[in-house]
Amino acid sequence: MIYSNNNFFFSKKISKHFDKQVYLKLESQNLTGSHKDRESIKLINLATKKKYKKIGCASTGNLAISLAFYARLNNLKCFVWLNKKTYLIKLLEELGAKVTLKKISLKNLYYESNNFFKENKILSANPGVYEQKLDANRIITSEILKKKNKFQCIVSSVNNGSHLLGLSKNLKQPKFYGVYSKSKLAKSINAFSLTEIKNKKKNGKLNLIKANDKEIIKGFSLLAKEGIFVDGSSSAIIGSLNKIKYKKICCVLSGSALNNLSEVQKIMLKKTS
Ligand SMILES: Cc1ncc(COP(=O)(O)O)c(C=O)c1O
Repeated sequence: MIYSNNNFFFSKKISKHFDKQVYLKLESQNLTGSHKDRESIKLINLATKKKYKKIGCASTGNLAISLAFYARLNNLKCFVWLNKKTYLIKLLEELGAKVTLKKISLKNLYYESNNFFKENKILSANPGVYEQKLDANRIITSEILKKKNKFQCIVSSVNNGSHLLGLSKNLKQPKFYGVYSKSKLAKSINAFSLTEIKNKKKNGKLNLIKANDKEIIKGFSLLAKEGIFVDGSSSAIIGSLNKIKYKKICCVLSGSALNNLSEVQKIMLKKTS
């Protein structure tokens, strides 16, 4: 089994706190700890279909881990481009990835890695290259809509935008909200590059909310009371729910605390100080 199918439930405590009906879809429970497993598997299947032997991405975290993990399981060589030295390099290499470090902006990292991938017949899992990346996220919404709860809105976090654009693909209803942050407590939504959203010229049509440190800490605490431990990006979603007027909400939580313990440690240090 690849995706957790026991990952949807009503949160009594969060609902009571906001005086809303809040449901949670825990993509953080996927095997490598994030919603990126959906994208990785779709793109690995595409690579196999197109007879590629190699797949690659530029990423700072969750996509790289997930892609490296599943690439080896599917006999593909994985190429990861990073723009910062991180503790993840060792893990990525252990998972079989070839890591390239270039200290350039994320935008240039996407650009240069895409050129390298093209020249070397490596399928690119970067934002904006294959529509399958969006389709992988659209399946999450299909699973939510199957529940027949008549949600007024779905809330997720947003960085490049593949996740939010995919969740909302071809849908007018329910409404979709994307939470971003400049806070260092939510690193995976920190760049807020909206690369994919800008490509699609859809920026104005999406509802975007900015979360601060306080909201991330609050979201983390509320989820912890339910026994759910997530990273800063997912905490930011819950901490921002008071900015949404709708009462019946489904939140898609995308990253596990275990994927980013140092970030979670910072949240907990701030919470107690
Ligand atoms: C845990 C987590 N949540 C949300 C996002 C944002 O996804 P996107 O870049 O598709 O907007 C990311 C992206 O890295 C992530 O790792």
